[in-house]
Amino acid sequence: MYSTLKGKISAHQAKIGIIGLGYVGLPLAVEFAKVGFPVTGFEVDKEKVNNITRGISYINDVPTETVASLRKDKKLSATTDFSQLRNVDAVITCVPTPLRKSKDPDVSYIISATEQVVKNLKKGQLIILESTTYPGTTRELVMPMLEKAGLKCGKDFFLAFSPERVDPGNKHYDIHNTPKVVGGVTPKCSTLAHLLYSQVTNRAILVSSTEAAEMVKLLENTFRAVNIALVNEVALMCDRLKLNVWEIIDAAASKPFGFMPFYPGPGIGGHCIPLDPHYLSWKLKTLNFYSRFIELAGEMNAKMPEHLVQRVVDALNDHGKAIRNAKVLILGVAYKKDVGDVRESPALDIIKLLKDRHADVGYYDPHIPNISWEGYNVRSIRDLKNVKKYDAVVIVTNHSTIDYASLVKNAKLVIDSRNATKNMNASNIVRL
Ligand SMILES: NC(=O)c1ccc[n+]([C@@H]2O[C@H](COP(=O)([O-])OP(=O)(O)OC[C@H]3O[C@@H](n4cnc5c(N)ncnc54)[C@H](O)[C@@H]3O)[C@@H](O)[C@H]2O)c1
Repeated sequence: MYSTLKGKISAHQAKIGIIGLGYVGLPLAVEFAKVGFPVTGFEVDKEKVNNITRGISYINDVPTETVASLRKDKKLSATTDFSQLRNVDAVITCVPTPLRKSKDPDVSYIISATEQVVKNLKKGQLIILESTTYPGTTRELVMPMLEKAGLKCGKDFFLAFSPERVDPGNKHYDIHNTPKVVGGVTPKCSTLAHLLYSQVTNRAILVSSTEAAEMVKLLENTFRAVNIALVNEVALMCDRLKLNVWEIIDAAASKPFGFMPFYPGPGIGGHCIPLDPHYLSWKLKTLNFYSRFIELAGEMNAKMPEHLVQRVVDALNDHGKAIRNAKVLILGVAYKKDVGDVRESPALDIIKLLKDRHADVGYYDPHIPNISWEGYNVRSIRDLKNVKKYDAVVIVTNHSTIDYASLVKNAKLVIDSRNATKNMNASNIVRL
């Protein structure tokens, strides 16, 4: 079975099933299909399945033409019928891993996806988990579910973990030139998973276990969360010292070794950085270890929306205007540059905090036509032609298509939390 699957993978004939066709699953499905593997996506969201079936992409980084051409070549399909899982040779699970309100991991999506795999498990299949999760999930949670039917891991089926490193909106790094970390339960599991990813990435890196592979992802994201928190604190320090934090970071970054620049901002967002470190701290709590850096970073980053709003209140005050009834435009609500994703975006907190102070808040985001959350419904204005009518414009996300120079020229007051107005000198700019 092992040699047969190896042969099928090398010949790009192995049938691949991807569970969860979101920001991670769809681009991965497309990459395998592009190099000739027959790929089926398994989704609970009928609309996504219908879109793929009609050859339409709903993810910014995946062009519709690519999906349409893969559909035409019969390399890519999507279904809500999980019984078809028994026809595939390799299954890759890319379902969400959110947090519960208590900040504990919510692995219910992994469990329900794995239940479908269990129902359809057949001898010789390779099962890979990609969803970000705490060390131990693959071996302690997924493997016992799969072995319940009497099949043995490493002999009857193969199991591995490989963290996803997709960076939506990144024009330089994609799956081909971003090394992929892989860890299997047994050496055979590792070899098969490594071989599979080697077909779509220039470099697959094998680590010693599934736990090591799970931990690699959490180290990467915790590293970012902690360093962003540090630089956010430095921004508050610079505020007190009347220094420009951006100037300080740029000058420090001229050191060719031992320093890596991170930048302050209005808070952190997205499906990864605000959530993943809590998977690690939760796991460690079960081992009586308290990860103080993670907690502190979470606290520091969560303070930033309130800090930015205070900046807006003070800047308006300096211009003789109260926040109550002030017309405020939020520029960019996506959690980061050039993406159409508002998950965990600090813009949502900022809008809420401004509305709580009775400001009249609108937003503009070329990637996000409207947002609804916690009873708030806001629609993007069409363009920035009438920016003059706002008392303040708050730059929350620095999309590369926005013309900041003309914005500064036309706006009464600009509060810039992203240094989007770098090198512009105008008295109406207030920086974070
Ligand atoms: N988005 C990123 O930039 C990114 C980067 C690295 C890692 N990750 C991780 O990858 C995982 C997936 O993230 P995402 O951003 O793609 O999420 P997503 O919400 O965009 O996509 C997940 C998809 O899974 C589907 N789904 C949910 N339950 C399912 C089930 N039982 N069976 C089949 N489909 C199901 C959902 O309908 C959705 O389409 C998460 O663990 C995340 O932390 C995400």
